[in-house]
Amino acid sequence: MANRRPSERRGSSRRSSTAQFESRRPSIDPSRLVPMDKVSHIGGSDDFNVVFVGAGNIMFGSDEGPWNHSFRFEHKLGPRLKVVALIDPAIERATAVLQKKCDSFVVSAYQGTRVFKTLDDFVRNMNPRDKPRAIIVGTPPMYRGSLKPGRDLELQILQHFPGVAMFIEKPIATGPEDEIHEGFKIAKMISDSHTVCSVGYMLRYLKAVQMMKQIIDENNLTVMSTIARYACAYESIAKPDWWDKSKSAGPVIEQGTHFCDLSRYFGGEVDIDSVHAHSLEWDENAGRLSKIAVDESKIAPENRIPRVTSAVWKYDNGAVGNFTHIVALQGHNYSCEFEVYADGYSLKLVNPYVQPVLYVRKPGDDNETTIRFADDDPFFSEVSNLIDVIEDIEEDPEASQILSSYEDAVRTYELTWAIRKATERSRVARLKTIPEAVTE
Ligand SMILES: NC(=O)c1ccc[n+]([C@@H]2O[C@H](COP(=O)([O-])OP(=O)(O)OC[C@H]3O[C@@H](n4cnc5c(N)ncnc54)[C@H](O)[C@@H]3O)[C@@H](O)[C@H]2O)c1
Repeated sequence: MANRRPSERRGSSRRSSTAQFESRRPSIDPSRLVPMDKVSHIGGSDDFNVVFVGAGNIMFGSDEGPWNHSFRFEHKLGPRLKVVALIDPAIERATAVLQKKCDSFVVSAYQGTRVFKTLDDFVRNMNPRDKPRAIIVGTPPMYRGSLKPGRDLELQILQHFPGVAMFIEKPIATGPEDEIHEGFKIAKMISDSHTVCSVGYMLRYLKAVQMMKQIIDENNLTVMSTIARYACAYESIAKPDWWDKSKSAGPVIEQGTHFCDLSRYFGGEVDIDSVHAHSLEWDENAGRLSKIAVDESKIAPENRIPRVTSAVWKYDNGAVGNFTHIVALQGHNYSCEFEVYADGYSLKLVNPYVQPVLYVRKPGDDNETTIRFADDDPFFSEVSNLIDVIEDIEEDPEASQILSSYEDAVRTYELTWAIRKATERSRVARLKTIPEAVTE
């Protein structure tokens, strides 16, 4: 099987069918996850046309974090990268980021880039030689992930660019809960058409995460419990939409989703009906915050976000999952920890966003071994693996993997919605018995 082409593999259950959700999740040998400065760009000389949808922070970087997809594409593809279009209704923003690129040493990737307000505009005006090999979507989730016109970007891509690979940022949507089934329909269309598609759950590509996978696989372990804690630094979150449930769907669906996804990556499928949760809401005594960067009074009371969300659930194999999202810290850095337990083992991932450290306890030693991961760049590994899969690299089919498929990402979305609904049920029940719990 050494020379199987990835396109053939895509036809098998390994990537495309629901079978993968019943068995082990795909993984990558951690030694293959190499930072950008330790690798040269991919070989070949033909142009690799890319369309970027969204000219915001995830695509071009910001002070808020290490994300910046364009930078990783430049390093992975080198002089082959040609960004044929940048699509964003905010034309001024798009033009400004483009100008910066054209003023820099990566000008060759951007000198032919045209800016369009919509994908339709691009389709209407596309020169056949500009046909993309990959469409990278970094728009807010409220504009995608459904079958409704105007929020059906994935369908438009499948229709206008059949066979062209996609990258979609997380979460797959932030629409109403009753549209989740539309996400599954989109997932089916993507897999039925064998379209290469990766969703931006980049923590799966962390070297530390892949080492955890390796330990579990090599020792044939069964995960008994996942415990995830995500405490964001709310003072540094200045986007009004983030604080507004009607826009972002709340901090678990928009942000905690990364840790819900990691939980599923290790624990397997969740019994959605088993999800129980409580929240601490903005109008309860303990929920008052002193350093919110936006004017929360402008957000309708019913749309203000919870300060704490704590959930527990059963996985299909009986294991128990536990997740707490906290909006309490100030400053800049988040405090996040993710633990996995199996017979004789604990694997504890600390600080995955800033400086990942893995603490491993194994049978025969009550002490934990500490493993640090200097210079790991999961954003690069995510892009690098996607490009390798698109390029159909044959020599080593095991090397490149897309770790988060669209269907997998819809399942994470479903879990985060289940957590939100469980908190809402708990709140209604509590207010029935203790109406004075709300102080505002
Ligand atoms: N994986 C991560 O760690 C990570 C980090 C940051 C953001 N993200 C995700 O990336 C996505 C975008 O976030 P961001 O921080 O870049 O937001 P942003 O607001 O900085 O940028 C979004 C851009 O999309 C544009 N846009 C809006 N509607 C559009 C449409 N219909 N078509 C094309 N462009 C449109 C906006 O004008 C804006 O320029 C979100 O899903 C977010 O959750 C992921």
